Amino acid sequence: MYRTINNGELRRIHIGQEVIMSGWVQRSRDLGGMTFVDLRDRYGITQLVFNLDINSELCHKARNLGREFVIQIKGKVIARASVNKEMLTGDVEVEVTEMNILNKSKVPPFTIEDQTDGGDELRMKYRYLDIRRNPIKNNILLRAKISSETRKYLNDNGFCEVETPYLIKSTPEGARDFVVPSRMNQGEFYALPQSPQTFKQLLMVGGIDKYYQIVKCFRDEDLRADRQPEFTQIDCEMAFVEQEDILNMFEGLIRHLLKEIKNINIGEFPKMTYDDAIRLYGSDKPDIRFDMRFVEMNHVCQNNDFSVFDSAELVVGINVKGGASFSRKQIDKIIDFIKTPQVGGGGLIYCKYNHDGSLKSSVDKFFSEEDLNRWIDVCKSSRGDLIFIMAGSERKTRKALSTLRLHVAELLGLRNPEIFAPLWVVDFPLLEWDEETNRYHAMHHPFTSPKPSHISKLDSNPGEIRANAYDLVLNGNEIGGGSIRIHDKELQSLMFQHLGFTESQAKAQFGFLMEAFEYGAPPHGGIAFGFDRLCALLGGQEGIRDFIPFPKNNSGRDVMLDAPSKIDKDQLNELGLDNK
Ligand code: AMO
Repeated sequence: MYRTINNGELRRIHIGQEVIMSGWVQRSRDLGGMTFVDLRDRYGITQLVFNLDINSELCHKARNLGREFVIQIKGKVIARASVNKEMLTGDVEVEVTEMNILNKSKVPPFTIEDQTDGGDELRMKYRYLDIRRNPIKNNILLRAKISSETRKYLNDNGFCEVETPYLIKSTPEGARDFVVPSRMNQGEFYALPQSPQTFKQLLMVGGIDKYYQIVKCFRDEDLRADRQPEFTQIDCEMAFVEQEDILNMFEGLIRHLLKEIKNINIGEFPKMTYDDAIRLYGSDKPDIRFDMRFVEMNHVCQNNDFSVFDSAELVVGINVKGGASFSRKQIDKIIDFIKTPQVGGGGLIYCKYNHDGSLKSSVDKFFSEEDLNRWIDVCKSSRGDLIFIMAGSERKTRKALSTLRLHVAELLGLRNPEIFAPLWVVDFPLLEWDEETNRYHAMHHPFTSPKPSHISKLDSNPGEIRANAYDLVLNGNEIGGGSIRIHDKELQSLMFQHLGFTESQAKAQFGFLMEAFEYGAPPHGGIAFGFDRLCALLGGQEGIRDFIPFPKNNSGRDVMLDAPSKIDKDQLNELGLDNK
């Protein structure tokens, strides 16, 4: 038997007991007659003590233990002379009588401590060592708990877990596909699913009226902190439902997770239309943990011979509570940030409403005190506040101000990861104009249903059509998205037509779905949550990488496996891919 108890469990009540324990050597300290070793496993750390007077041979053996050696010991639990209040097992230690070295270890390339000296790439190359550290281990355990609570909620609500295939034909979701060559059908390729979208709709046609799957999805797109090429979705679909039924059901899931994981009770989630989100926050995923809503200021800013404002399509500001205390240096830094290429803001104008009631703006030359007072009025500013204003083309300006809003909130400590503010963003546009291809694309995906009363605008004003499509936003992150689907063959063909598919292209790509719609497809809709993002947020972070056991780096590489990699000629040959 390797162990009778784990390294996180020993307490005062165990004093006097004989135990067998196994684990890794976290560190050892040699204090002359005594050698202390911290033994670690998944559950915690226990201090071992080797006494030179009692067993000198064993004590010498312990002195030669290196970090990360795997050992098994037998010993007696005793009270510690100096209690360590920081450790759960800090009241006791184990006086070792026997020790077995199960395996040696090379010196690890970074310290296996909560605060490590290992950089990102090194930690990913030796991910198995990184996983021994509490921060990563705890993320993996959290992920498992969220997964199990998700299954619990969905199973309790009558959902059926169904696996869908990974070797499929591409479904257009906006990103590039990863493709897999077929040996048996040379020259032909499978695609890895960007999501199981069409399959879940076919399951609805098949009568499995409540489906879910915690499933890997693959998208060959540029990576960011919240994006990986393979990621996991909680993918769900329901038949015989309207949008409200779906929102209720899945709001319930997130509420269940917040309760079980964070012990936080949240009431009904607020809803905001996409148009309002853009108007008030310049973003379709606003962080509503704090205010700073956009205030349109054209009417109080233009016609004052200040060309930046006069030439702008939109002049828009935010009121920063307490912002008058920002120093000149801080404001300059914020302006520098705004001008970085990622933000792309042209510039930033500010107006301080000082505590003594005086007003100071960066454009005092152009605006009188009376003008500035009008700004204060429209922005509903109080003494001690500061107004930031941006001007320019509508889209770009809203986007840049949205980034500024988050940046300022960060500086003011308003993005507290322990506060959770979910928000449904509803009524997304059905179509989105794409400058590159010069045509409309489906904003969500081509299976999303337009609002029935908007269908008539398909020819006249496609950009105005709103869809029964929704996102769930948590603390400014899109954690889920879905829609009510088209279940009528004619409407689906019409949509493909408007998305630029010829009839034969639509048939070649989606013939199977259109055919299914001819055999009694029920009304249906669904949603998919970004599981990695959800885990990260519940773990108090926004980057998903450390919540994925074996993630890819920023160039999509697995640095541990060294993948992707070349394959040999024979393998290429077999696949019919060796052209030379
Ligand atoms: P969508 O494309 O919005 O919808 O994806 C759903 C959710 O998945 C997460 N997500 C990602 N997470 C990590 N890395 C990525 N590269 C990545 N891409 C997306 C996001 C997102 O909200 N089939 C539809 C869902 C439906 O209509 O039911 C779909 O996939 O959190």
